[in-house]
Order: sequence, then C-alpha cells, then structure tokens
Amino acid sequence: MPKITFASTGESHEVPDGTRFLDFCQENDLPHDFGCTVGSCGTCALVVTEGGEGLAPVGDEEAETVEMATDEEGARLGCQMVVNCDVTLRAAEV
Ligand code: FES
Repeated sequence: MPKITFASTGESHEVPDGTRFLDFCQENDLPHDFGCTVGSCGTCALVVTEGGEGLAPVGDEEAETVEMATDEEGARLGCQMVVNCDVTLRAAEV
C-alpha cells in the first residue's frame, strides 16, 4: 500500500492505492489546509519532497492554479492528488 508522510511532523499513513489525498485528510483530520476542494483556489498547494514518481502528471488546469498559488517548482494541488505511490510532502510556500 502507498504511504503518505507529512514532512512537517514525520507522521506516516499507509493508504489504499488510488486514495484521494483530500478525502484521506478530511476523514482523518490531518494537518493540510484545503479551500475550494475543486482545484481552483490553490490553498492546498503542496510539494512532494520524496517519492511521487507514480503520480499523474500535472494537467493544464492544475498547472494554472499552482502557478497562481506559489512560485515553488514542482508544486501540486492536494485536492487533486490521487495517491498511488509513496509520497513525502509539505505545504508549498505561498
Ligand atoms: S483546495 Fe482549492 S485548489 Fe485545492
């Protein structure tokens, strides 16, 4: 099973393959902020610091929102992320 690790706390959780990061965080009261939950506000921007090789590539809409939210290279939207591989992540600098 893929593992999500929060770099800020070192907290780690195994999740079923294909788990939506948004759903998992909301169901488990985990420390990541969300706003719109539909990929348009950028509140959930994050950086995968380790792993993430199997994540879906960034689509045009996600790239547009990320660009608006942060200057960090390689940032993703947590609300759009489907976890299918190990990821270590932290919130993006905004
Ligand atoms: S919560 Fe708004 S873009 Fe992810």
